[in-house]
Amino acid sequence: MKIEKVGVVGCGLMGAGIAQSCAQSGYQVVVSEINDDLLNKGLGAIKKTLAKSVEKGKLAKEEEEAIAGRIKGTTNTKDFSDRDLVIEAAIENMDLKKKIFAELDGICPPNAILASNTSCLSVTEIASATKRPDKVVGTHFFNPVPVMALLELVKALTTSEETLSAVRSFGESLGKTIIVAPDKPGFIVNRLLGAFMLESIRMLENGIATREDIDNGMKLGANHPMGPLSLADFVGLDTMYYIAQSMYEELKDPKFAPPLLLKRMVTAGHVGRKSGKGFYDYQ
Ligand code: CAA
Repeated sequence: MKIEKVGVVGCGLMGAGIAQSCAQSGYQVVVSEINDDLLNKGLGAIKKTLAKSVEKGKLAKEEEEAIAGRIKGTTNTKDFSDRDLVIEAAIENMDLKKKIFAELDGICPPNAILASNTSCLSVTEIASATKRPDKVVGTHFFNPVPVMALLELVKALTTSEETLSAVRSFGESLGKTIIVAPDKPGFIVNRLLGAFMLESIRMLENGIATREDIDNGMKLGANHPMGPLSLADFVGLDTMYYIAQSMYEELKDPKFAPPLLLKRMVTAGHVGRKSGKGFYDYQ
């Protein structure tokens, strides 16, 4: 199956990045949000990133306009009725994702592929909300999507080889390197990255090291582009918390139990860069 028209549900950090990457690779994209404010915020973030690339001389002005012209924002899910592929990038909540997939199943053409950008939830369970579980797959992108070279595909128990192959070609057309993970908690990347980042929070919580020493240790001693606490702020502490919670619930392995410090920070609304405060201040 050839994918030409793409839909993205959610225009937050990940949804906006996915929409931008698809448009940059020539796809016509419809991206939805639950209200005009969130939609305008997401579309504004895409415009800002594109304008920066023009400023730096990395993108021609005409190309910027062409990319922006391929992205249509909507608050009406019915606008997905002609899409070949719809990628859901809502928050990590199983009930919400199932609701979205059941709705998409009723709106999208029967041969359309429905994908979830979930970073930890079971794609098989999400697929069970539809009457096309063979056409449901995980497409786990990484933040910032236009920059990160990886796309982790998640094969649910029900995903057909045809679906996987179509989504693999689509991912490659975005310039991504593909890895395929089984539908197991955290897939490949977050099983490793989650354990590492949660341990860094526990080290801070237990007074083993300062935030600067933890981050510099991994930045300068292991050549990571960001230390784990800076990365947690970048990903969003609320997302980190959902990932930890869902992995702990399924695996019952204490290394994935959300640290209390993380829980308290999320409760306080200190969820990282997007809120202006996390392990560091961004005011
Ligand atoms: N959108 C688009 N482009 C962006 C961007 C964004 N939000 N942020 C940065 N960039 C681009 C910049 O424009 C710049 O592009 P050019 O090289 O073409 O000029 C490039 O990225 C580098 O940016 P900067 O020079 O501003 O800054 P940097 O060198 O410090 O890099 C970074 C920034 C790319 C974010 C780098 O710090 C990095 O790779 N950090 C680690 C990111 C990471 O690990 N992401 C995965 C998180 S886990 C996840 O997403 C999955 C999950 O399930 C939780």
